[in-house]
Amino acid sequence: MKAIVKAAAGQGLVVRDVPKPACGPADVLIKVHHAGVCGTDLHIADWDEWAQGRIKPPLVLGHEFAGEIVEVGADARGEFETGQLVTAEGHIVCGHCLQCRTGNGHICAKTRIIGVDRAGAFTEFIAMPAGNVMRLDGIPTEIGAIMDPMGNAFHTVLTAEIPGSVVLVLGCGPIGCFAVGIARAAGAKAVVAVDVNPKRLALAATMGATKALQPGPEVRQAVMELSEGNGADVVCEMSGAVSALHDAFALVRNGGRVQLLGIPKGDIPVNWATEIIFKGITIYGVIGRKMYETWNQMQRFLRSGVFDPRPVITHRFPLERIDDALAAIRSGDAGKVIIEIGH
Ligand SMILES: NC(=O)c1ccc[n+]([C@@H]2O[C@H](COP(=O)([O-])OP(=O)(O)OC[C@H]3O[C@@H](n4cnc5c(N)ncnc54)[C@H](O)[C@@H]3O)[C@@H](O)[C@H]2O)c1
Ligand SMILES: [Zn+2]
Ligand SMILES: [Zn+2]
Repeated sequence: MKAIVKAAAGQGLVVRDVPKPACGPADVLIKVHHAGVCGTDLHIADWDEWAQGRIKPPLVLGHEFAGEIVEVGADARGEFETGQLVTAEGHIVCGHCLQCRTGNGHICAKTRIIGVDRAGAFTEFIAMPAGNVMRLDGIPTEIGAIMDPMGNAFHTVLTAEIPGSVVLVLGCGPIGCFAVGIARAAGAKAVVAVDVNPKRLALAATMGATKALQPGPEVRQAVMELSEGNGADVVCEMSGAVSALHDAFALVRNGGRVQLLGIPKGDIPVNWATEIIFKGITIYGVIGRKMYETWNQMQRFLRSGVFDPRPVITHRFPLERIDDALAAIRSGDAGKVIIEIGH
């Protein structure tokens, strides 16, 4: 079967044939229909420092996908049947550690990620542990394929108190744009979206941002006007930019909440006293999706129709055109980029 592979240490990816995986007794074998491409795949293609330390080639890439069940292992029968459309949580956790046993599998230190630590989904078939597989039950596979990054946004937004709140979203990449729509659907009073890139601000506006602004004094003005001078109840930092992190602390209200998803490079000096302690704020670090609370929330928002992520999908490519898909992401103008595989 055809796959997008990191063949060896160094730049680039190749499309080549790999063996079809076997379906273990506790697995579900899935024929991939759609897969999402993201910054992680770019890091692996470019063979940056993170990739050099983590990836062991040869490796089939891809951690965001959805497709159709073609085989169910003996121990996985009951919940799953062939022909069902499904997606899967790509973080495979140990199940035995303190975090896993207290419902916090998203911070399991033994997490192994498909397309990073084991074979991924940029191919025709993938075998997944049944415990990670989620039935779509009416959600199209194109949306199922982006539930991983969308789940990052759901986790970020819905772990704060949103109804009636003024929400500030810093960074309107695909995840920030999802967050804008989710905050609106969850009943925010207003959502102020900030990005340096006008194309991404336009996408944030489409997703329902009350104001979509470039960083600068207008952002403070908008937040203060909408919040009777208090500041944002909730700030979602989704850019990883140093200045945005300081904006988050400056614009959150006293006693408000800062949700940190964006991953900054290296150390950042912070004035702990004035930016955090004296404001009495709560900071929450977001990693992955809560298993499986976030997935359940996501299914309810999608099935009820209160949230539609489709405007964020801007590009679709066949598997052979992975280099074009990566170029679209590299341009910084794309929303979510999808690979169409076998549907
Ligand atoms: N914690 C997690 O589990 C997790 C998972 C996936 C991605 N991430 C991180 O989340 C972030 C968002 O992911 P994405 O795929 O949407 O990334 P992205 O790179 O597409 O989006 C980041 C956006 O921030 C904007 N930006 C840059 N400087 C800014 C500034 N000063 N103010 C406001 N916006 C600014 C960029 O123009 C861009 O649109 C990234 O940092 C990514 O590494 C974290
Ligand atoms: Zn991803
Ligand atoms: Zn664990």
